[in-house]
Amino acid sequence: MTSNPESKSDTAQATPDRPTTPTASFVVVANRLPVERVPGHDGEEWRMSPGGLVTALEPVLREKGGVWIGWHGVSGEDLEPFEASGIQVVPVPLSREEVTEYYEGMSNATLWPLYHDSVAFPEYHREWWDAYRAVNQRFAERVAAVAGEGAIVWVQDYQLQLVPRMLRELRPDVRIGFFLHIPFPPAELFQQLPWRRQILEGIAGADLVGFQVPKDAHNFVRLLRQMLRYETRRDRFSAPGGRIGRARAYPISIDVEAFAQLSDSPGVVARAQEVRHDLGAKTILFGVDRLDYTKGLRQRILAVGELFSEGRLDPEETVFVQIATPSRERVEEYQRLRDDIELLIGRINGSMSTIARSPITYLHTHFPKDEIAAMYRAADVLIVTPLRDGMNLVAKEYVASKTDGSGALVLSEFAGAAEELKQAYIVNPYDINGMKEMILQAVRDSPAAKRRRMRALRRQVLNNDIHVWADAFLHDLDLIGYPTTLES
Ligand code: F6P
Repeated sequence: MTSNPESKSDTAQATPDRPTTPTASFVVVANRLPVERVPGHDGEEWRMSPGGLVTALEPVLREKGGVWIGWHGVSGEDLEPFEASGIQVVPVPLSREEVTEYYEGMSNATLWPLYHDSVAFPEYHREWWDAYRAVNQRFAERVAAVAGEGAIVWVQDYQLQLVPRMLRELRPDVRIGFFLHIPFPPAELFQQLPWRRQILEGIAGADLVGFQVPKDAHNFVRLLRQMLRYETRRDRFSAPGGRIGRARAYPISIDVEAFAQLSDSPGVVARAQEVRHDLGAKTILFGVDRLDYTKGLRQRILAVGELFSEGRLDPEETVFVQIATPSRERVEEYQRLRDDIELLIGRINGSMSTIARSPITYLHTHFPKDEIAAMYRAADVLIVTPLRDGMNLVAKEYVASKTDGSGALVLSEFAGAAEELKQAYIVNPYDINGMKEMILQAVRDSPAAKRRRMRALRRQVLNNDIHVWADAFLHDLDLIGYPTTLES
């Protein structure tokens, strides 16, 4: 299936056997490679890891003979380019220090909280910024070394915001797209960033800049006008040299068909029945999130806990299952969050459990996809309550998995998904009482009322899957370059 890359030194220098002729006509650049190392016949192998972005881009990568450039998730290992499940991947090495400063620091303790409404305090450190710039430069150089003449390059997300401009300087011939998967902050917050100009100029190096929601695209264009004095008109901006770029919203989605098929597969159907039987509850409330402070876990658990303690939800009849996937565990704020929510859940269960059952079943671990699919199938209500979220694909996965039209989705108004999933039970996660009422309504509404809402949600999700997203972005990127004025 794959080659077995050997570990090399901890440097970013090009090695002689790296491709010297840049040939790829399509290049995806993301912080992470979409591969996982698994035990194989002769030692270890690389397998494409499942995920929406990979599914959407795999056909394009194959058709165009494209490559994916990214970090493989381990520090201090410089790997040769290799093939995984028929896709060419080019690993970018990160030293241990760079993981600390570029990934855990600048990306996840500065940009991540700042871009999510500052729900945690963003830290600004000059050495993190230096590492961020150096790593972005390395990514840009890797792209420049593999992209063929006039190639399409699609840069992903907040870890690589400087790459578009750096790449343009190295390779003015390539067409560059950039997509931000997380929210883009309003000017008042963005202005805090000591390196705000460099970030704006970095992103604006792209021909097409995609955001999750229109408001974020407007924020970006307004900042280009106000801070960089770019001329702008609607979604277009004029960059130095007269190049015209565009910034607009492309709400990301999931591989809807794959989720539906998995949900209806005999194994998942049987497992969902087993889960319902094992939980022994009439009503199953469910939450599944990366353990991240943006996800509103404290508020959600508090709301559900109060509903139990006030007797408005009966622990004999109802159970709340919360899966929290470990994430960014070396970042302090994530460690604090884990302590907080485990204490909270411990208190609730401590005061309301019986020997036989607990109101909250909490699982802090990675779950396989089919186990999550069984939970979606079994759950009567999915609760998604981020304080801020670019999109939130869990909400869309649940809707896609409810092939029988049952279920109810409680969704925060601060998730990008709320712009599309208007028939969900919409909540403000800061308003605990309001959230409690809405959760109760989602539990108690008549089956017909729930089905009506779910039908509308399913229509929206089924018509806008990940392929629609990728096609729309790549189509617009393809067209860019033709209009030469701000007006056209
Ligand atoms: O949504 C942003 C994102 O970076 C995703 O691309 C990724 O799947 C998720 O957060 C987890 O991030 P990390 O790569 O830091 O584990």
